[in-house]
Amino acid sequence: MKNAKKIHIETYGCQMNFSDSEIVASILKENNYDFTDDIKIADIIFVNTCSIRENAEERVRKRLQYFKSLRKKKPGLVIGLLGCMADRTKTALMDEEQLLDLIAGPDAYRHLPQLLEQVGTGHRAIDTILSLDETYADITPVRLDSNGVSAFISIMRGCENYCSYCVVPSTRGQERSRDAASIVGETRNLFETGYREVTLLGQNVNSYSWNTANGLVNFANLLAQVATVNPLMRIRFATSHPKDISDELLQTIARYPNLCKAIHLPVQSGSNHMLDKMNRKYTREDYQNRIQAIRQILPGCAITTDIIAGFCDETEEDHVETLSLMRWVGYEAAYMFKYSERPQTLAADTLIDNVPEDVKDRRLKEIIDLQQELSLASNRKDIGKTFEILIEGKSKRSDNQYFGRNTHNKVAVFSKTLAVPGDYVSVTITGATSATLLGEIAPN
Ligand code: SAH
Ligand code: SF4
Ligand code: F3S
Repeated sequence: MKNAKKIHIETYGCQMNFSDSEIVASILKENNYDFTDDIKIADIIFVNTCSIRENAEERVRKRLQYFKSLRKKKPGLVIGLLGCMADRTKTALMDEEQLLDLIAGPDAYRHLPQLLEQVGTGHRAIDTILSLDETYADITPVRLDSNGVSAFISIMRGCENYCSYCVVPSTRGQERSRDAASIVGETRNLFETGYREVTLLGQNVNSYSWNTANGLVNFANLLAQVATVNPLMRIRFATSHPKDISDELLQTIARYPNLCKAIHLPVQSGSNHMLDKMNRKYTREDYQNRIQAIRQILPGCAITTDIIAGFCDETEEDHVETLSLMRWVGYEAAYMFKYSERPQTLAADTLIDNVPEDVKDRRLKEIIDLQQELSLASNRKDIGKTFEILIEGKSKRSDNQYFGRNTHNKVAVFSKTLAVPGDYVSVTITGATSATLLGEIAPN
């Protein structure tokens, strides 16, 4: 029997949060709720939130004000907050704003049907308890906003690295790995329904570990199992922590052509002084050693990173060391951020956020400008090369063009052919910007 209630879900934050929204959708579909893209006709609005930086929370707060205006026009509209802001803001948001009917943390999604029932009886509902073992392994996610070609699979939850700037250990709780067989099964199902690319997700996938009767499955073992589902299924993963990306893992990636040759290895800073304060547990030299291992075992592999500008006590020398390490690696791409102090982190408790805002801005700009130069140089080197591209869909710029990615996770745009999304085509690169490769289908 159909429950007439329609849910609209908006997601902010990282890929793991998008993957979680698909789990939420699955749980609620099972309970006869419908979903809608049109917020105006929704009976229930869920916002799946991110706490990673202050501006991420700001965006959500602004959005909540908009939902409030919708409820004025539609009394009875249910508004629920999910995800990483749930625990930290539960009292403030419910009491001060009188806006939220429901709050559910990242490990509480199985309880959403009961929480919604509670709201239905006129009560507010909160569940922000973090779990030691919840991985939603048995839930087949409903693919939201899907292109039908690429999908995310969460393989772990939580994080226990306690990088001093980072809120994730407090919002998502203890690290736990998901049953390997369920990950392989989900990959197989996706392949059979036409998907050709999966990204395995975790805050630190290198510490994946699952006990079976036949022994321990580590991340390298898991990748090998997923790779053998079908050679036409591309596998990516994020994120690797530099402190434990092993040679065994790199050798496994080398062994299977469908394990993509692209590694996201967040460095955060090029200065040992900063890395120590950040509690990253590796030095600049350790990081360089891992880059050399990648270059040796996986020649041509793309390397991308995350960088934080203006962390506590960062000096001009520290900043210059970040720039010099960026040049030394020659990253294909980077996500770059200004340090934003977060409550309930080691840095908030023990360090002072003492780099002035204008200095943070200037350093971030220098980092972004340098990355722009490095990305352009990397893309220009691809001109004249031919890559196997997995077509993802029509290009945003033109209906007559497709876009897709190569193994290095670089986006290529090229004229449409008879091939369709989900097909592999050979594309020769003829031009490049810092963000995109331009190409033509290679003659057979
Ligand atoms: N688990 C991943 C990163 C998850 S968060 C890893 O360890 O690499 C994604 C990125 O957000 C981080 O790599 C970091 O660069 C950035 N970030 C995290 N906390 C931040 C903060 N307080 N201020 C600014 N950037 C931050
Ligand atoms: Fe945050 Fe560090 Fe965990 Fe990444 S590894 S989620 S940066 S604590
Ligand atoms: Fe944000 Fe939570 Fe992801 S804080 S980055 S949504 S794990």
